[in-house]
Amino acid sequence: MAEDRLSKIVSLCRRRSFVFGGSEIYGGLSSIWDYGPLGARLKKRIKDIWWDTYVEKKEDILGLDSSIIMHEDVFKASGHLEGFTDSLVDCPKCKKRFRIDKLEKISENLYRCVECSSEIDSNKHKPRKFNLMLKTNVSATEDEPNYGYLRPETAQGIFTNFINVLNSTHKKLPFGIAQIGKAFRNEVTTGSFIFRMKEFEQMEIEYFVKPEEAARAYEYWVKERFDFYTSKLGIRKENLRLREHEKDELAHYAKSCTDIEYNFPFGWSELEGIANRGNFDLTEHGRVSKKDHSYFNEATKEKFIPYVIEPSAGVDRTFFAVISDAYHEEEVNGKTRVVLKLKPNLAANYAAIFPLLKNKPELVELAKKIFYDIKVKFPATYDDTGAIGKLYRRQDEIGTPLCITVDVESLTDNKVTIRDRDTMQQERISIEKILEYIEAKVK
Ligand code: GAP
Repeated sequence: MAEDRLSKIVSLCRRRSFVFGGSEIYGGLSSIWDYGPLGARLKKRIKDIWWDTYVEKKEDILGLDSSIIMHEDVFKASGHLEGFTDSLVDCPKCKKRFRIDKLEKISENLYRCVECSSEIDSNKHKPRKFNLMLKTNVSATEDEPNYGYLRPETAQGIFTNFINVLNSTHKKLPFGIAQIGKAFRNEVTTGSFIFRMKEFEQMEIEYFVKPEEAARAYEYWVKERFDFYTSKLGIRKENLRLREHEKDELAHYAKSCTDIEYNFPFGWSELEGIANRGNFDLTEHGRVSKKDHSYFNEATKEKFIPYVIEPSAGVDRTFFAVISDAYHEEEVNGKTRVVLKLKPNLAANYAAIFPLLKNKPELVELAKKIFYDIKVKFPATYDDTGAIGKLYRRQDEIGTPLCITVDVESLTDNKVTIRDRDTMQQERISIEKILEYIEAKVK
């Protein structure tokens, strides 16, 4: 059933141009995905809402756009070179490679292969450490390579710019630096659509505080980020939950961490992590770069390294959660209606405009005029490539909140039929009220 739902969502994403396989015409690459025309727009809406909420609307958070390729020393300092590894084991029978922590444990050293079900004895087939970072040559020649790394988290670009931001903006604690951008990890566990990718996007905030204020700021961000998913993205509360990390599962830098989990079609899994990273990163960058990363409090004349609270969300997982939450099937007149009940302002198009009869030039002309008038203000689409029922179904599947039909009467009464995606109720409204109507729907 869950698998069925997952495959239906994947199929909708493909059919309606949300998500395609990466490099597909050449056979694809595992865990690499491309966003199609509608997916790119939904993804942008999610990022815009996050950026607007935290960077544009908050006084204490500054935006940043740092580079993806970073110096090797960044990752010496952050601990990623040493510790950002998976323990991998090879199955002696099917020769496939797995993360040992993802295999079923039969007894002390015995694991079950997920591919061919044979037993893997970790004493005989020793697990090997495998670094997840992607390395790239940034030198002009291959003979004298100079390696950089594609960042595995956007956070490091924030830490390495901490002094720059502090010195150029003179911000006082507490303050945050926010960034949206790509991150790369050579993940071995694949599958589950866009849940685990090798190239993905993060929306991260590093919120710097005095050490004694860290615990309170951590509580604040856990609540704030949970509420964001329900209030700003319309995700149903019953599909979200918090899970605090056990001490033995904390990342090497974290003092505490809470995951916001979503009930994905394959079960509850991490959507976002909120961590108290203490002063680990700034201390380590100070040590390795030999540049002072402390903060000077003018009022108390104290000098200290701030603590940092980090709400770290994945754009792709948020996209997946939004689509999964919105996906509905309903029985209507003996047929299954597939509808994406997206929060209206997330939809790629806020309205779709159709002429009832495409072979009536006056109707097409009026429908196109209405479309162009709407398009100036809101994202909209025009379609006359099918019968009205088919056009409605198409828009339902991509989550367009309103469909507007221009018919013969529109030419004389200056009214159109407007249909609501969720209730399927139709109303006749005057053409001059259309913009107002859309605005009320998507606010
Ligand atoms: N800076 C902290 C950090 O990167 P993380 O828990 O490894 O922490 C944060 O990642 C978020 O980034 C995750 O909650 C998830 O949403 C997203 N993420 C991490 N790895 C991912 C992957 N391979 N594919 C897609 N999203 C991923």
